[in-house]
Amino acid sequence: AKTRHFKWEVEYMYWSPDCIEHVVMGINGQFPGPTIRAKAGDTVVVELTNKLPTEGVVIHWHGIRQLGTPWADGTAFISQCAINSGETFHYRFKVDRAGTYFYHGHLGMQRSAGLYGSLLVDVAEGEKEPFHYDGEFNLLLSDWWHKSVHEQEVGLSSNPFRWIGEPQSLLINGRGQYNCSLAAQYSDTNSSQCKLRGNEQCAPQILHVRSNKTYRLRVASSTALASLNLAIGNHKMVVVEADGNYLQPFKVNDLDIYSGESYSVLITTNQDPSKNYWLSIGVRGRLPATPPGLTILNYQPTSASKFPTSPPPVTPPWNDYHHSKMFSKSIFALMGSPKPPTSYDRRISLLNTQNKIDGFTKWAINNVSLALPPTPYLGSIKYGLRNAFDQKSPPENFPDNYDVMRPPINPNSTTGSGVYMFGLNTTVDVILQNANALSDNVSEIHPWHLHGHDFWVLGYGEGKFSAKDEKKLNFKNPPLRNTAVIFPYGWTALRFVADNPGVWAFHCHIEPHLHMAKLLYKNRGR
Ligand code: C2O
Repeated sequence: AKTRHFKWEVEYMYWSPDCIEHVVMGINGQFPGPTIRAKAGDTVVVELTNKLPTEGVVIHWHGIRQLGTPWADGTAFISQCAINSGETFHYRFKVDRAGTYFYHGHLGMQRSAGLYGSLLVDVAEGEKEPFHYDGEFNLLLSDWWHKSVHEQEVGLSSNPFRWIGEPQSLLINGRGQYNCSLAAQYSDTNSSQCKLRGNEQCAPQILHVRSNKTYRLRVASSTALASLNLAIGNHKMVVVEADGNYLQPFKVNDLDIYSGESYSVLITTNQDPSKNYWLSIGVRGRLPATPPGLTILNYQPTSASKFPTSPPPVTPPWNDYHHSKMFSKSIFALMGSPKPPTSYDRRISLLNTQNKIDGFTKWAINNVSLALPPTPYLGSIKYGLRNAFDQKSPPENFPDNYDVMRPPINPNSTTGSGVYMFGLNTTVDVILQNANALSDNVSEIHPWHLHGHDFWVLGYGEGKFSAKDEKKLNFKNPPLRNTAVIFPYGWTALRFVADNPGVWAFHCHIEPHLHMAKLLYKNRGR
């Protein structure tokens, strides 16, 4: 195993992610940031210098469990203080397992500002993946706003509340097109055809393939808000990896991916090689107001500038939740993967609600909205600073008679900074419970992401979780993930073993939701 050193500088810079120039948060003059590529067992060292003139920064290594290195998790006010302007911090951690990961800022809305990049881990020397492929492509997906994150933040924390709205563009590897479309010629709307030479910052990265080969597409979503669906014209995909864990391979026409998730899919280039094909991403779960993100699958030696003969694949209707549920429910662990313990030591239920606190719109869990303390939890606990955060644990459930199908009767909630404490090696079940938001007939998708661990996704269901749902849970081959979605008005059941001492965030990966407070949890070794 090797140690891989990286020297990074985070800075604001001018960039044109969607052909319109804006300020983005970049690393070493690049957007997205440089890709980290390592082998399982390697140690990664990132020497991060903050060149932002007036704000702190941290970077979280999303999906890396940080076994024994909780100080390197990169969560502001949780694992560390923000790195001040002009300062340098060393992140040092082991990438213990092959897989598709990414990294991103974890302070304020710095992820939305463009602070993200890919982290790809290959199998260790001499090891093999449980599937074969001839080549691979990496697709890091994101969404992009023209409004600065500072303006977005002010709106979210104003009274009256101002929502950020839908993204202007969807980006693939930081590239999208706002003022034109790559596929205008197929559409009846009057978007204009892009005239790109290919060397622009917003020009799509074309996927050049040869005929009759198998390619691995690594797909990760760092979106601030959008749930996405990815499809490739004429090509089916075989899903083989999720969040660094191997899956029982299954075939799909299109792939749903929520913020914080990653997948590997295999495609076989068995279509007419004299043609090119669209790869398209579109918005799910919210009424889309954003055109699809596009690139081209180019069969060499066919010219990459030859247009596909048919229009880009159409994203399933945004509110076709049945389609999304069918996809989520077809994900199973590859045979031989670690199985969950057969029983739990502790079960907590987390009700997700939208609330009001002093007139401000917030998200809360069991009626408490997390307010991060100024002193990072990890240090407070290590040094026994008892006044640094609420010592009382947050509630472990919610009133039995809470009606998840209606807006809260009392919309008011409170803030708190307590954490759930788990004894080392306890098995914890978490029931994530969705509910109606503040307005009638609204319940949103929330992709929940756990730091420092993977969890088994035991099942999904409708309405309020109850005893009769128990027997629907999958203990045989549930997938291990670090992110799992709760569908509108539904529940999702997770199980994990608290085997990695530290303080770990567990939160909805939607950036404005996170920013509107909602985060939790845990600790305690030995
Ligand atoms: Cu990728 Cu705490 O998040």
